[in-house]
Amino acid sequence: MATRWGICGAGRISHDFTVALKTLPPGEHQVVAVAARKLEGAQEFAKKHSISRAYGSYEELAKDPDIDVVYVGVIHPYHHSTCLLFTNAKKNVLCEKPLAMNRREVQEILDSAKKNDVFLMEAVWTRFFPASVEIRRLLAQGELGDVKMVRTEFGMPLMHLPRLSQKELGGGTTLDLGIYCLQFISMVYNGEKPESIQATGVCRAEGLDETVIVALKYSNNRLAVLTSSLVMKLPNSAIIVGTKGTIQVPDHVWCPTVLDVNGKVTEYPLPEPCLPINCIKSTGMRYEAEEVRQCLLKGLKESSVMSHSDSMLLAEMEDEIRRQVGVVYSQDSK
Ligand SMILES: NC(=O)c1ccc[n+]([C@@H]2O[C@H](COP(=O)([O-])OP(=O)(O)OC[C@H]3O[C@@H](n4cnc5c(N)ncnc54)[C@H](OP(=O)(O)O)[C@@H]3O)[C@@H](O)[C@H]2O)c1
Repeated sequence: MATRWGICGAGRISHDFTVALKTLPPGEHQVVAVAARKLEGAQEFAKKHSISRAYGSYEELAKDPDIDVVYVGVIHPYHHSTCLLFTNAKKNVLCEKPLAMNRREVQEILDSAKKNDVFLMEAVWTRFFPASVEIRRLLAQGELGDVKMVRTEFGMPLMHLPRLSQKELGGGTTLDLGIYCLQFISMVYNGEKPESIQATGVCRAEGLDETVIVALKYSNNRLAVLTSSLVMKLPNSAIIVGTKGTIQVPDHVWCPTVLDVNGKVTEYPLPEPCLPINCIKSTGMRYEAEEVRQCLLKGLKESSVMSHSDSMLLAEMEDEIRRQVGVVYSQDSK
């Protein structure tokens, strides 16, 4: 039986996710409905992707009985209300990153998923790329010895996008790009909570973070450093340094398809998209979709690769970085 997807939001990433699903066998993944705030938006999306049902409200999608899981592809400030709508309607959910604006919102989403006994995962697609699976395998086997340092950065000039330059739309670099660096570091350090976080950065007058630099210290003197920026292009690489060797992601750290392990380079090519896509390498979202399918088939309520506690840890680290850099959203005062 195919996993029947409902798509919530007819924007850029929902388009790419739907294209990524088409790289998987149709007998395993089907998009059966799409919902947008306006019916015309949903209808246009449905036509482009040959989806049979289009809804002009998210509530109608929540009431559709023939959906196994909803992909939430709306902008961050609406993740909280939208996730709660679907979890309360007993729908399984894959929600785009960041899962919500702060720790409190993330906790409420996770509590609701638990209470309603549904699957829920933050769509940290990076973790499911074959290159990421290989990094975890190498670390688990001790190939690097003791890891001492992780360094990574994600910077791209993206301030022309309203959702990233306007605070009320969830703008700022920590929640959009920094999260990829944080998730990479957390993956390497196996979901451990850092002992300390020291952040500094450059904010616009209204308290919107353009660029942040963060130093993290973990137990046993293990360190990590990250840079995240919405105003400059960085190499977007990562290096994991251990006592016996190094792993490097030479570029595209948020969607890695090349790994350099002690100088030996391996490529993990992606399938071509059937339609033009908005985000680079986004057919790689196929791997997180397949993780969701496998979890649902097993009756799991969360993924062990991107678990609820992983989402809580990301939210806590994001809150702390924002506190130190001086970024406060309206959601923080609720
Ligand atoms: N995994 C990745 O690589 C990746 C890449 C890009 C973005 N993302 C994440 O995906 C999410 C959406 O990003 P996007 O680039 O797809 O954004 P987008 O195209 O600008 O907007 C996505 C949807 O959000 C809703 N929306 C937009 N502006 C709104 C507003 N002012 N008020 C209420 N709803 C609004 C709309 O839903 P309707 O269609 O219903 O109107 C829109 O279609 C973000 O949380 C982002 O972090 C992930």
